This record gives sequence, C-alpha cells and structure tokens, in this order.
Amino acid sequence: MSSKKPYNCNISALGHYVPEKVIDNKYFENYLDTTDEWITERTGIKERRYLEKDQPTSYAATKAVEELLKNRNMSPDEIELIVLTTVTPDMIYPSTACIIQNNIGAKNCWGFDLIAACSGFIFALYTGAQFIKSGTHKKVIVCGADKMSLIADPDDRNNIVLFGDGAAAFLLEPGEDENYGIIDAVARIDGSGGRNLCQLAGGSLHPASHETVDKKMHFIYQDGRTVFKDAVKGMADVSLEIMKRNNLKSEDVAYLVPHQANHRIIAAIAGRMGVSMDKVMMNIHKYGNTTTASIPLCIYEYWADGKLKKDDNIILSSFGAGYTYGSIYVKWTL
Ligand code: ACO
Repeated sequence: MSSKKPYNCNISALGHYVPEKVIDNKYFENYLDTTDEWITERTGIKERRYLEKDQPTSYAATKAVEELLKNRNMSPDEIELIVLTTVTPDMIYPSTACIIQNNIGAKNCWGFDLIAACSGFIFALYTGAQFIKSGTHKKVIVCGADKMSLIADPDDRNNIVLFGDGAAAFLLEPGEDENYGIIDAVARIDGSGGRNLCQLAGGSLHPASHETVDKKMHFIYQDGRTVFKDAVKGMADVSLEIMKRNNLKSEDVAYLVPHQANHRIIAAIAGRMGVSMDKVMMNIHKYGNTTTASIPLCIYEYWADGKLKKDDNIILSSFGAGYTYGSIYVKWTL
C-alpha cells in the first residue's frame, strides 16, 4: 500500500441553466383554490421556471455543462466522468449522462445517473470527489438537473406550487492544498421514510398501465407535514455533525447552502445550527424546489454575484425522498 496522501478535490468551474418561462404564483390562482399570499407565506416561493414541452431534462443539463466548459475554456474531450443526478431522467435507460455526453461530443469519458431525489447533488458531489481524491481522474463533471413540472400534478395545490425546473453543474479537479475544496461529507439513507415521499408508478412495482395513469400514480406523492418535520431534523443533524467533526463554530461558517424546499424548513435548520439568516443562501423565491439542481444553482448564483469568495467555509445540506440526507463541508477556492 502506498503511504501517499490522497489528492484534494476542488470545485474549479460552474455552469447553470434556468428556463426562460416564468410561472408566478398568480398563475395558480387562476385555476386552483390557492393564493399568492398563502404560497409566499407558507413556502417562500414567488415564482418558478418551466422547461417547454419539447425540452427534456437533458436539454437543461446540456446547457449547464456547456456553460461550465466555456467558463473553464475547456474542450469536452478533457472530461473523464459525468455524474448526472436527477429524478426526471429523459428515459429510464439510456442514462441521461449518456445523452449529455453525446450532446456535448465528449469522446473520452464514462458516466452514469445517480438517484437520491433532493439529496442527489450532495450524493453525486461526494461520489464524484472520490474519483479525484483517489487520483484516478483529473476532470469530473457533477450535474444536477430536473424537470419537476412534469411530475407534479397540475391539479394538486399541495404539490404543484412547490416545484420548478433547472440545472447546474460543477467541475471537479485535483488541487494542491489539502485544506481547500471538498473537505468532508456525511451521507445517510433511511428507507423507513420512503412511503412519505415517492412516485409510486413507472417502476417494476407498479409498471405504467391505464390504472396507474387514472390514479395519478406517476405524480409526486407526499405527506408534506411529516416530510417537513423529518427534513428539519435530518438536515440539522447532519449539518451539526459535520461542523462538530471539523471544529467549525457557527461564526466560522460563511454560508449554509440548504436544499431549497421551503423557507420555513430552511429557517428552522439555520436556527438549530446557530447560523444567522444573512449567512443562508436562498433563491427559493425565484425557482421553487428544483430538486437536484437546487443546491448547485444557489452556489452558482452567489458565486456569479461575487458574494462567495475564496476561503469561505460553506456547509451544504439536503434532505429528500428515500429518505436521503447529507451534508458537505467545502472551503471555497474560486
Ligand atoms: N394553497 C392553499 N392552501 C394549501 C395549499 C396551497 N397551495 N397547499 C396546501 N394547502 C392547505 C392544505 O390543504 C391544508 O388544508 P386543510 O387543513 O383544509 O387540509 C392547509 O393548507 C394546511 O396544510 P399543511 O400541510 O399543514 O400546510 P403547511 O403549512 O405544512 O404547508 C407544505 C404545506 C408547503 C407542503 C409543507 O408541509 C412543506 O413544505 N412540506 C415539505 C415538503 C417538501 O418540501 N417536499 C419536497 C421534497 S422533500 C424536500 O425537499 C425536503
């Protein structure tokens, strides 16, 4: 066994895509028993973006990866691995990673899709980082992309108002200084929560049939109140664990980057962590819950606006169907 230290893993470039079509809360007032006031107060969401009918998830993901390549001034042929995370793949197979690879013309890479619902990006980032840290790969793309507008029942006020579409991608590369980049991660699954948040049909348990369509089993099902409570506990627990084992006090944290599900969930987690709301990244008001894109979209925007700086300690935190939950500690380098 070699005693050589593992490489560290930096986030070295970012890209994103949000659809042009904006759907504000008033849109739902036209046909559902809901109001802009209720949605804003109970969720923090003012508007969300929708992809067009002929734009699948891979459309948004490809745009995000193309922007990343441009930002890094890099040829697609340099990419060695694409880890794509989504709950709305273009098809069950081939993987959406293959579709992106073909769209961008990356000739020297492999890749796969990873399913962990709203924790998808944290699990994918943790996974992608291992290929850099082990020294086997030098350029890994991690991309979260979802078209949630397709799987939320437009007639269900409990769900349709919450979700939006989008994509964002990070490039991972080895760095010189082990005190920077992706420092630590905590990831957990708890299948006992599976029934509280799921898409029942379309898999081998309930294959697509007239009955599954009639019963709306291809849409998101959730027990919102239970998920709310479990999300606060799960996200706070893993975030506090990662802070503790890296000797980080709340004042050392430049930003908490929570999954953007509900502003009340986010405020409750920040409270438990002792992090003030001015240190919490938020864009839920503009995009709603974009599932796997939510965390990287937030980071992209704060970085692009110059609010995220080199040396900042950031704590990423997520919770989603599964249950899946996790937290990553990054010391920012860009
Ligand atoms: N407009 C008006 N009324 C609504 C709406 C709406 N859009 N949606 C729900 N209501 C009603 C409910 O029907 C209920 O009415 P009832 O008492 O007559 O049955 C009432 O509001 C209160 O319902 P609650 O469930 O208590 O409302 P709550 O304040 O908890 O908000 C919500 C519901 C927004 C779904 C919340 O529970 C939530 O955010 N849960 C987390 C779910 C989530 O984000 N899941 C996404 C994936 S997992 C994750 O990302 C963490």
